[in-house]
Amino acid sequence: MSDIDLMQGELLEAVASASDGVALESVRVAALGKQGSVSALLKTLGQMSPEQRQVEGPRIHALREAVSGALAERKAAFESAALDARLAAETVDLTLPAPETPRGSIHPVSQVMDEMAEIFADLGFAVATGPEIEDDWHNFTALNMPESHPARAMHDTFYFPDKSVAEDGGTREMLLRTHTSPVQIRAMIAAVKQDPGGAPIRLIAPGRVYRSDSDATHTPMFHQIEGLVIDRDIHLGHLKWTLETFVKAYFERDDIVLRLRPSYFPFTEPSVEVDVGYANEGGRRVVGGSGDAPGHAWMELLGSGMVNRKVIAAAGLDPDEWQGFAFGVGVDRLAMLKYGMNDLRAFFDGDLRWLAHYGFSAFDTPTLSGGVGTPA
Ligand code: DAH
Repeated sequence: MSDIDLMQGELLEAVASASDGVALESVRVAALGKQGSVSALLKTLGQMSPEQRQVEGPRIHALREAVSGALAERKAAFESAALDARLAAETVDLTLPAPETPRGSIHPVSQVMDEMAEIFADLGFAVATGPEIEDDWHNFTALNMPESHPARAMHDTFYFPDKSVAEDGGTREMLLRTHTSPVQIRAMIAAVKQDPGGAPIRLIAPGRVYRSDSDATHTPMFHQIEGLVIDRDIHLGHLKWTLETFVKAYFERDDIVLRLRPSYFPFTEPSVEVDVGYANEGGRRVVGGSGDAPGHAWMELLGSGMVNRKVIAAAGLDPDEWQGFAFGVGVDRLAMLKYGMNDLRAFFDGDLRWLAHYGFSAFDTPTLSGGVGTPA
């Protein structure tokens, strides 16, 4: 028997008798490691004459193959034995209490949007949506802000580099909508499509809006809710009652006092800014009471007005037949006021500690107990 055969016999024997993975590993190192016996044998090939190498080379390689094959096989056997042992030992005790899993929470913005949808649903308003990537016709032109209108510059708009081709073949500037007001236009156009003569509309449109602006009270993305009512014989009284009813339900207080102040928006005529009275209590603004009462002041809450005739006409409705009112309100600010947060930027930082503190449980969400129209 040659030395190589002898060595192979010994090594295979060592592999077979290794009692565990650790022992097997030391057999591997002793044979195939850098200083191992088989590796040493492989190194001798370099000093051999070509004739000798032709004879010895295949034998040495075959030795290495046989040994590494046996090692791999034995290793696999150890591993499957270990797995079998683990499976036999591990049992699941179904009587143990389930481990605590982290719970998500509802973001205050989602909570407030849900509360508003709930209040307005009681008043017969549907929820509408529109695209966040808008064209300048829906976002500006149809809302009575033609290209040269100064109000366009006030919006700090994010524009896209490429224009898009509209249905009418013209090109339109594309942008991130700066307000939810374009949903008014889309809703009116959809209503005309369904019924060319027009039909009453009552909707709110919650969503994200974008402006190039950032400080403690402004973020480049924020949330608004638009409201739109279109019908026959609608007047400012309907607007005032609707907003009063909404603000009372939202803040869950009956002593809310609103002040309507003349203002200007291109898409409403007349336009009003709506202020709400509040008191400063311990550095926190608490909504309620007249802003003219002692210790009280007024704060601007939202913009609104009677929908401009030009806007009604741009959407394809006859302004002599259809009137309406609209309003737009910042959701984030409403959330801050009701739940006492002071930095708008925290809303969008995604800090889990902030969310754990200000977020709402999905299982235990405070809903508006009374609803609209329930006697107090
Ligand atoms: N779109 C206005 C803004 O973002 C808010 C607004 C004001 C909306 C008056 C309205 C409205 O519908 O009637 O500043």
